[in-house]
Amino acid sequence: MNKKCVGIIGLGSYVPQKIMTNKDLEQIMDTSDQWIVERTGIHERRVAAANESTSDLATKAARKALEDAKLSAAEIDLIIVATASPDMTFPATACVVQDNIKAINAAAFDISAVCSGFLYALITGSQFIKTGMYRKVLVIGAETLSRFTDWSDRNTGMLFGDGAGAAVLGETPEGYGILGVDLGADGGGAELLKIPAGGSRHPATNETILQKQHFIHMNGNEVFKFAVKVMGETILKALKNANLAASDITYLVPHQANIRIIHSAAKRLGMPMEKVVVNINKYGNTSAASIPIALDEAVKSGAIQSGDIVALAGFGGGLTWASSIIKWCK
Ligand code: ACO
Repeated sequence: MNKKCVGIIGLGSYVPQKIMTNKDLEQIMDTSDQWIVERTGIHERRVAAANESTSDLATKAARKALEDAKLSAAEIDLIIVATASPDMTFPATACVVQDNIKAINAAAFDISAVCSGFLYALITGSQFIKTGMYRKVLVIGAETLSRFTDWSDRNTGMLFGDGAGAAVLGETPEGYGILGVDLGADGGGAELLKIPAGGSRHPATNETILQKQHFIHMNGNEVFKFAVKVMGETILKALKNANLAASDITYLVPHQANIRIIHSAAKRLGMPMEKVVVNINKYGNTSAASIPIALDEAVKSGAIQSGDIVALAGFGGGLTWASSIIKWCK
């Protein structure tokens, strides 16, 4: 068994300048600030400018992560972008980022696991380092879900926001880095959360557009029930994998989808909310970007310190889920 320890050695994030508040949404859909705050915890979200796409947000986060890791782009061996809102069906958004930052020695590909995407990318990327194939891997969660949101649909329109978070992975001192992980999927729930048209099953036509099939469709109640169940389970599995208990966690950085889902995960683990990183109020659900943005903010604010046990956990369309227990080292 390979004993190499792998962890996050640099972090960066970026959110677009434009803020859309719940009050702004009241003007375009049948909703209220009070309902959105009470039922989701979201106060406002960011929306990409007309000339900004997912790769632009990803590039800005990537540059900050490289600076934080004190590395040049040429030192990166692999770029993985996790996104459900790629620039195009192909080529991969990771290839666009590779060109933007001039990571001339890097391979590049995308991962599709929706809101679990960043953790799927983190765990995949870490394997390349563990095996000795690569030394430095850049993993990015980036989304412009505002482009796939029906702003007249109150069941989905208030939830999502745009943003990007990036992490550089590299070897860490022994005992630090990723200690345990869990990955899972249940394709039986694929229908619960999807963008029905624009792929090979229902290629884009005038009809699919008129029927708004190119926007996010979601069974919110069923996704909620799934999320509440799986968040606690996946963290407990990753903890077991790391030979740790919930009481060992210094900070939980959960996917920011709904404050009630976050509260329920904390309760299941017996964790006080002071140990849970929350920024959903500012950004809404930024899907694959939510965990790295929250992690970056918690590290830059000085909350997360070297030696802390950090639990990252998410769930999303697929259905998918993932978590990672990290002994922080920076
Ligand atoms: N504003 C005002 N009223 C609303 C709104 C709104 N935006 N949305 C729904 N309502 C109304 C409903 O019509 C309903 O009214 P009724 O009682 O008269 O029928 C009432 O509020 C309750 O509706 P519910 O859908 O039961 O509300 P709920 O408390 O379940 O909240 C929500 C809905 C926020 C969508 C919740 O189910 C949720 O967060 N689900 C999980 C979604 C999620 O996490 N998705 C992302 C997954 S990650 C990824 O991969 C992208």
